[in-house]
This record gives sequence, C-alpha cells and structure tokens, in this order.
Amino acid sequence: MQVLGIDVGGSGIKGSPVDTNTGEMLGERFRIATPKPATLEAVVDTIGQIAEHFEWKGPVGCGFPCVMRKGIAYTAANLDKSLIGADLAKAVSDRVGSPAVVINDADAAGLAVMRFGVGKDEKGLAMVITIGTGIGSALFYEGKLIPNSELGHVTLNLKKEGKAQDAETLVADSARKRDDLSWKEWSVRFTEYLKNMELVMNPDVFILGGGAAKKKDKFLKHLKVDTPVKVATLENRAGIIGAAMASREFGQ
Ligand code: BGC
Repeated sequence: MQVLGIDVGGSGIKGSPVDTNTGEMLGERFRIATPKPATLEAVVDTIGQIAEHFEWKGPVGCGFPCVMRKGIAYTAANLDKSLIGADLAKAVSDRVGSPAVVINDADAAGLAVMRFGVGKDEKGLAMVITIGTGIGSALFYEGKLIPNSELGHVTLNLKKEGKAQDAETLVADSARKRDDLSWKEWSVRFTEYLKNMELVMNPDVFILGGGAAKKKDKFLKHLKVDTPVKVATLENRAGIIGAAMASREFGQ
C-alpha cells in the first residue's frame, strides 16, 4: 500500500509517499515552512500543496503535535489554537480529495520505530520519547499503540535546581539550547526525567527519537537508568513514515 505521509511541526511541514509494506519513503522528502500564524486553514492548505507537489491521489496520513481523538484535535503545541476542536481528518481529506487519517506526531514516530526500526522486536511496554522542540511520548504494549500519552508534560522537580515545572520545558532539546547546557548537563536533567518515567510507567525499554537522537554519542553514555535505552535510527523520516502507517493501521 502507498500512502502520503505528512509530519506537521512548528517550523516545517514535511511529506513523502511511503510504501507501508516496507516503510521505505518513495520520493524525496518535500518540506514547506510552517505558515505563521499556523492557523487551521493555512496548515491544511500547506498539506494540500505537499499533496499537489507529489500529484497525490491516494490515502494520506498526517502527524500533528496535537492530542487527537477520532480525527479531532484537542491540543495544538506550537500551532495556532484554531486547530483545537477542528476535525482535522475531514479538513485534510476535503483539501486533498482523498481519505485522511490524523495522529499525534510522537505516536506516528513511534509507529515507524516499532514497525520498521529498533522497536520491531520489542514485547512488553515500550516507551518511545521524541526529543526536539518539545518532548513527545508514545507507548506501545505488545506492539499495540496506547495513543495520546503526552508524558512530556508530567511535572518534573529537578533536585539540583529545585525547579518543579512541565518536564518538556526542562528537558526538550530547545531547553538544552535555551539554558546553554553541555550534553552532560542536559543528560543529568534527562536522567531525572527517565527515572521519573521508570517510577510511574515501568517500561521494558526506552526508545529515544526526535532530532536530538542524532547526537546519541554525546549523551547516551551519561544516562544512568536501569531500563534499557535504545536510540531510534529513522531520524527525521520517522514522523513521515509513521504518519503513513497510521493510515494503514487506523484508516478505513
Ligand atoms: C505536544 C505533543 C507532541 C510533542 C512533540 C508536545 O508539546 O504536547 O503532542 O507530541 O510536543 O511534538
């Protein structure tokens, strides 16, 4: 099956046709900068432009940084709040003229990693964490997605700094850059986050993805947790491939 996979982010909207049997991208990834403001209409139109670029006529799968239920967005991180409450599946489908499935972006990245990447043979509870501008999470039990986990938004109390705040604002890659942390300093924070996740989720494995995963050589050795840690290798392709997989697994 061939599906156009699209990954909507706060800075770019990226897409490519994907072969959902193999997880291969069938074209050169095409990216358009996220419109500012990223209103519902502007974002959906950009998705339409990506479909036009590929002259796409088939099914579409889209990942958004949104909690998503039955096609409707309940949150919108780094996008205009006009997306909240909108039926994104219908809006995308109307614009593109094909059936569309929408999914949370971290859940999409997780699907790609679990079907085609380092998570392929993972049984039990796998927690995929995407580290980028935000922190995304995707939970899989026996390979089945438990959607919309949003575990980047637990409250984290950093022992060293006595700060209790939304974990994402302390451990995302954007926080590392904002606070000018060395990879080692960031790893100390991220270890605290992972320890918190061990305490409440008890996963069998952590799988780290997102843009920061490319820098694994700089931080992996500093993470001190009991749970095995793996790093996703699909990098920035995971969001697109997983969005396409959502159409295959959850589409009509
Ligand atoms: C959002 C999640 C999203 C993550 C990564 C978070 O701020 O709440 O829905 O998966 O960012 O984009």
